[in-house]
Amino acid sequence: MTFPAWPKDEPVTDPPVAVFDSGLGGLSVVGELRRLLPHETIVYFGDTARVPYGTKSPETVARFAREILAFLMRWEPKCVVAACNTVSAVALPGIVSAQAIPVIGMVRPSAEAAIEALDQLGGKMVAVIATTATVASNAYQQALGRLDRQVIAVQKACPLLVPLVEEGRDADDPLVALAVAQYLEPLIRWQPDVLLMACTHYPLIRPAIARCLGPKVTLVDSAAATARKVASVLTERNALSTAGTNGKLLCYVSDNPQRFQSLGTRFLGEPIPSVVRVRPNEFESIPYENAPKRMAAG
Ligand code: DGL
Repeated sequence: MTFPAWPKDEPVTDPPVAVFDSGLGGLSVVGELRRLLPHETIVYFGDTARVPYGTKSPETVARFAREILAFLMRWEPKCVVAACNTVSAVALPGIVSAQAIPVIGMVRPSAEAAIEALDQLGGKMVAVIATTATVASNAYQQALGRLDRQVIAVQKACPLLVPLVEEGRDADDPLVALAVAQYLEPLIRWQPDVLLMACTHYPLIRPAIARCLGPKVTLVDSAAATARKVASVLTERNALSTAGTNGKLLCYVSDNPQRFQSLGTRFLGEPIPSVVRVRPNEFESIPYENAPKRMAAG
């Protein structure tokens, strides 16, 4: 089996930041990362053959996450970002401790950002919207409670929002407005100070969510919060790439690279240069020696 390697004319001289998601959504985190840390090379894996994760059981999501992590570790990354709220909520606690490098999820950074927003507002009420699996895990309520015992959190699963965004529908689409209104109505009656968008897809329909909530509720975006955490972890470890190095983005997907490339541009905010398909059943069987190696500088 030939492994889809880095393009030969694009040597990677620095340890990359590895990022993964169930599909396209994690590109919203990559977009934030590339704005904050433009010199980092990023290897992205989107599990487009098995998306969505948000309707699957924790056991299944954990198995997928382990397989992807093993695949990404072949690049000897400086850190791994689980750019999927569902993975972060249901699978990450069991995986992180086994890794020698930082594995950064979305729950803790997003909960911290929500608490920070509450502190600035002098409020205590936060509403969390997420996938069904994330809500069922209670990970956000637990993380918020650990950070501030006085915080009162409610959560609401919004399962229709991911497929609507995946279909390319944007914030001005009437179906998006309808679904958002139905999901948010009970939360608005509860009068939260902050609404935490705890799903990778929601930043793409942020204007629809903001319109429905009105000006009194502050929106917190889990993608931006996670990217800020990655920047602070790399800074603390003195592991930031410097100007002049790499800054490349290479994307792997488990299905339909063309669809990923065309729809992904909306999530990323820039064209996606290169997408390579690798099937899930190839993850385990790819010998380490055949994985793309970082090439020596120069
Ligand atoms: N990436 C997932 C999340 O942030 C949404 C898509 C899915 O259900 O797989 O929860």
